[in-house]
Amino acid sequence: MTVNAGRRAAPRRAVLAGAAGLLTAVLVVGLTTAAQAGTTLGASAAEKGRFFGTAVAASRLSDSAYTTILNREFNQVTPENEMKIDATEPNQNQFSYGNADRIVSHARSNGMQVRGHTLAWHSQQPGWMQNMSGSTLRNAMLNHVTQVATHFRGQVTWWDVVNEAFADGSGGGRRDSNLQRTGNDWIEAAFRAADAADPNAQLCYNDYNIDNWTDAKTQGVYRMVQDFTSRGVPIDCVGLQSHFTGGSNYPGNYRTTLSSFAALGVDVHITELDIRNAPVDAYRNVTNDCLAVARCKGITVWGIRDSDSWRSGESPLLFNGSGQKKSAYDAVLTALNNGTSQPTGTPTTPPPTTTPPPSGSCTASITPGTVWGDRYNTSVDVAGAGTWSVVVAITSPQKISSTWNGSPTWDSSGNRMTMRSNGSGNTFGFTTMTNGNSSARPQIVSCSAG
Ligand code: XIL
Repeated sequence: MTVNAGRRAAPRRAVLAGAAGLLTAVLVVGLTTAAQAGTTLGASAAEKGRFFGTAVAASRLSDSAYTTILNREFNQVTPENEMKIDATEPNQNQFSYGNADRIVSHARSNGMQVRGHTLAWHSQQPGWMQNMSGSTLRNAMLNHVTQVATHFRGQVTWWDVVNEAFADGSGGGRRDSNLQRTGNDWIEAAFRAADAADPNAQLCYNDYNIDNWTDAKTQGVYRMVQDFTSRGVPIDCVGLQSHFTGGSNYPGNYRTTLSSFAALGVDVHITELDIRNAPVDAYRNVTNDCLAVARCKGITVWGIRDSDSWRSGESPLLFNGSGQKKSAYDAVLTALNNGTSQPTGTPTTPPPTTTPPPSGSCTASITPGTVWGDRYNTSVDVAGAGTWSVVVAITSPQKISSTWNGSPTWDSSGNRMTMRSNGSGNTFGFTTMTNGNSSARPQIVSCSAG
């Protein structure tokens, strides 16, 4: 609890992010007045406050056709294999960071943020770890998390702390693995170890087949994240790998999944996007869905050219083997340029069980009010329900100092207000103290009827 509240309030990252946000805002104004849309994925995403990244293989950094596209188009990088357990700790307690360091150094010297991938996973374990079990394995895993997160401290913005820990199929439970057999608390133990080693990194849970909101696996991960946030286990983000093949297609309720995770108070990222045959519509929909959810902070594709893909036979990426832009590239770029920079998303109220989401949602829209030197007013209009509860997120260090026409309750961080109707109509309002951050504005997280 304290740990989590501490992470959220972490002033250093918040201030840095705020400063970067201001710079971006100034840039956006400049570009907008010049009536120019971004011409690369990274620049267009940045204008919308997002990142657009790619998986990178160290072995390709010597290919100038590859690095030309990488440096031109992307502002975020995920090492494709170089930070996995077998790569970073090939022998127990002998750490090997050469290839990972090369990618990090290339990324940082070109202004790209790095996602670390991944500290704990049942797959791509070195032989010595595959043969371990019980407390020996638990301790070895925690030592690995601590050592690797410490090595990359200050260089990695996000960590996929745990990857793919849930089972496919109808149960919604954990995947069987040597790590799972060390005890159900292995995931939170890994998150706590990563938090201790790098308190400023944002810590993510990452998985595939958690794209369809009604899938049992999605619901299982949702309940784990809900449990973590309610108990103060340090988690900041959920990554949806989104490898879309013939067997697991882009689902029509993808936006509901993104906004439902976001409503738990975590960021969401699309972390390994590739789509069989790169259909224009699916790439456009994924991009629009992310832009529609304020806490969807960015998209990473799993490789640059089709020839770089782990599924190269399916041609699932945005550039062909010759490095030319495909139609899906144009669709993504256009969607990024058309997208809103102040998204409010489609609010949903996720259910606590595996049943599909309820229909009792409403919409809440923000109207900015009077602004003073140290504070400003906001009013919110609710439509679609007579009685409602609306969750509003505030950016620390801003704080709501007074409210009207509703009954507020607060979460433990003080950054999230749930406002319930109290018979005063369908418009409520509040005053926010800026506390030095005059750029952030409240976001609607969800609106539920009843
Ligand atoms: C894949 C890599 O792309 C391949 O090069 C490697 O052989 C296997 O792993 N989910 C993940 C990624 O989290 O790490 C996987 O990457 C793809 C599926």
